[in-house]
Amino acid sequence: MKIPIKQLASGFQMPVYGLGTWQMGGRNERDPKNNDNADISAIRYAIERGVTHIDTAESYANGYTESLVGQAIKPYDRRSLFLVSKVHSSHLEYQQVIDAARFSLDRLGTDYLDLYLIHRYSLSTPLGETMQALDELIHQGLVRNIGVSNFPVEKMEEARALTKNKIVCNQVHYNLKYREVEKEGVLRYCQEHDVMLVAWRPLQKGLLLDAVPPVVSELAKKYGKTPTQIAINWVISQDHVVTLSKTSNNDHLQENLGAVGWSMDTEDIEKLRSEFPNQEIVSDAVPLHYSE
Ligand SMILES: NC(=O)c1ccc[n+]([C@@H]2O[C@H](COP(=O)([O-])OP(=O)(O)OC[C@H]3O[C@@H](n4cnc5c(N)ncnc54)[C@H](OP(=O)(O)O)[C@@H]3O)[C@@H](O)[C@H]2O)c1
Repeated sequence: MKIPIKQLASGFQMPVYGLGTWQMGGRNERDPKNNDNADISAIRYAIERGVTHIDTAESYANGYTESLVGQAIKPYDRRSLFLVSKVHSSHLEYQQVIDAARFSLDRLGTDYLDLYLIHRYSLSTPLGETMQALDELIHQGLVRNIGVSNFPVEKMEEARALTKNKIVCNQVHYNLKYREVEKEGVLRYCQEHDVMLVAWRPLQKGLLLDAVPPVVSELAKKYGKTPTQIAINWVISQDHVVTLSKTSNNDHLQENLGAVGWSMDTEDIEKLRSEFPNQEIVSDAVPLHYSE
């Protein structure tokens, strides 16, 4: 299927649904017991079904996830894919960023990234140093676009003032339950400043709908969709928002793809926004504000 795209006023485009890779190959370290072939097959299955946006990071399985992605994408035309990786918050000095990007390219087996993100801001390295390195990566053609992740509004403003290039996205935790980006004004900032908000963990790692709330069941019935499809569709129904979900399961991928290409009525989107139970205003995984 052709996954719909969203486009910024600047012309930058992203598909509304991308494949996440966190936990493919391991968690923070490589898991020798991981079924690597299953993850490679899952990435290929997604590509065969129209997924082009693949999200990874140097820190996933300590680089091993990028190697798996590299193996998975080998048979495909690189230009048909939209590859995203991230530099870890412990590598944000100028030369560290340049080196980290080169290592990521090597592991991915490609000579450019479509988008390169600061995974999280550092409390010690001045942001200007990192932004200068990202500008250099664009200048060298190793990276096509730059963005940030887990940045609150004031950090986005700071980053914007320190780069020659456009910050095209902020990748943040956002789903029906976790609303920190609404509460902290990040969603509004992205909408008003022409920045894509890339919502990670739309299914709260599959836990979001362990018990399906009545408001979700009601809308699933109304639209003839599954609760998971309602949850993903709600995220991408927000202006300037696209999403990423990880799955190594082909049935889940098919289900998730059924979440795109249609819309709920505005009153239903707003009903979900207000009635989804047990909402949280701080991420349980990566809060926007943090101290050591
Ligand atoms: N920038 C950041 O700091 C940051 C942080 C976290 C994540 N991310 C990125 O965002 C991506 C998505 O987030 P996430 O992986 O944490 O969470 P997620 O996509 O909400 O959830 C993934 C989990 O949900 C399961 N799942 C997927 N589709 C399903 C379905 N239709 N029905 C039931 N279960 C389903 C998957 O298991 P199966 O494999 O069995 O389907 C997997 O365990 C990550 O993979 C990563 O690339 C970025």
